[in-house]
Amino acid sequence: MQDVGGTESRKKDHIRIALTSNVVPERFRNQFDQVMLVHEALPSIGIDDVSTSTLVFGKKLEAPIIVGAMTGGAPGTEVINGNIAEAVEEAGLGMGVGSQRAALMKSSLEYTFRVIRRKAPNALVLANLGASNVRKMSSADLKRAVEMVEADALEIHLNMLQELLQPEGEPDFKGLEERLDGICDEVGVPVLIKETGSGISRDSALRLNGRKVAGFDVGGAGGTSFALIEGKRRTDNMAEAFSDWGIPTVASVMEIRSVSDKLIVASGGLRNGVDVAKSIAIGANLASFARPVLRPAARSSQDVKGFLDQVKLQLKMTMVLTNSRDLESLMKVPYVLFGDMADWAEQRGLISKVR
Ligand SMILES: Cc1cc2nc3c(=O)[nH]c(=O)nc-3n(C[C@H](O)[C@H](O)[C@H](O)COP(=O)(O)O)c2cc1C
Repeated sequence: MQDVGGTESRKKDHIRIALTSNVVPERFRNQFDQVMLVHEALPSIGIDDVSTSTLVFGKKLEAPIIVGAMTGGAPGTEVINGNIAEAVEEAGLGMGVGSQRAALMKSSLEYTFRVIRRKAPNALVLANLGASNVRKMSSADLKRAVEMVEADALEIHLNMLQELLQPEGEPDFKGLEERLDGICDEVGVPVLIKETGSGISRDSALRLNGRKVAGFDVGGAGGTSFALIEGKRRTDNMAEAFSDWGIPTVASVMEIRSVSDKLIVASGGLRNGVDVAKSIAIGANLASFARPVLRPAARSSQDVKGFLDQVKLQLKMTMVLTNSRDLESLMKVPYVLFGDMADWAEQRGLISKVR
């Protein structure tokens, strides 16, 4: 593998741009407002009766919430990873790590990832590699990535839009689909397929569902847009046309759940604990926040913990308001769709699944 210098500076660019620019497109930004859970005026439970806990890959989480994959692989990023790790450990949650490609190419960068297990010995941790690299990677490198963070699962990210738009991109996933079962056998931990802002359709999910993958992290449109991020790194305006490309997160969760019983992580554009509750009601098992955690993570672990505690409490409150004692009950709460999300569900034949 070549280009470690490029990977390092790209990682830094992404963090800088995500911290300083508006990288969330207007369209679908408020998609979760188009999902309404039906209010229960007379709940039979109080807030102390609510349990938000869940078991994922053998790890108990206090709530179905993780911090999404973002960083590592460039000097300085160990601070962000360390702050996130400390906060999720204290909060009893989980986290994804950013692409580990740079550290596989240059082992002196491993410390930017190894900090995570030092600070979070018990939390759920998801390793991360990109599709264009993973298809050519040796079994030894795959295992090294998992070992580097003592991961509970590996996320393979699909990011074709980003690969097409970034000057140093490798827009080619050929061979990955055929290699997937082998990868799942070799890595020794469950494998999740993750998008990074364009979502996963039921058609893609159907193809992947037949493979040995353990689930999906939808990475839907409506949150951080890599077209907007890459647009800021380019000198032309090629990327602008794709700024709101993709399947919105809400639609993607419903699409995948209509064909698969596997684990689904809702990610892309979630803002608070009410959005977490909505994600679970429409079919997800876990909910993920990436960019909303970046600014607090650049400051301190307490700031990350403050954000996560608020999200957890909002989720609990929403569960009282829908009379959901646990996540299993929340999954059955009736909901109504409006606007774009209702149109999507209707035109894609998902409406019969809407309660
Ligand atoms: C600065 C930054 C870096 C990211 N790097 C990765 C990455 O290395 N691997 C990956 O799978 N996703 C990466 N993502 C995508 C996130 O995991 C997530 O899917 C996406 O940001 C949508 O969530 P959000 O709207 O909550 O930010 C990155 C996101 C941000 C903001």
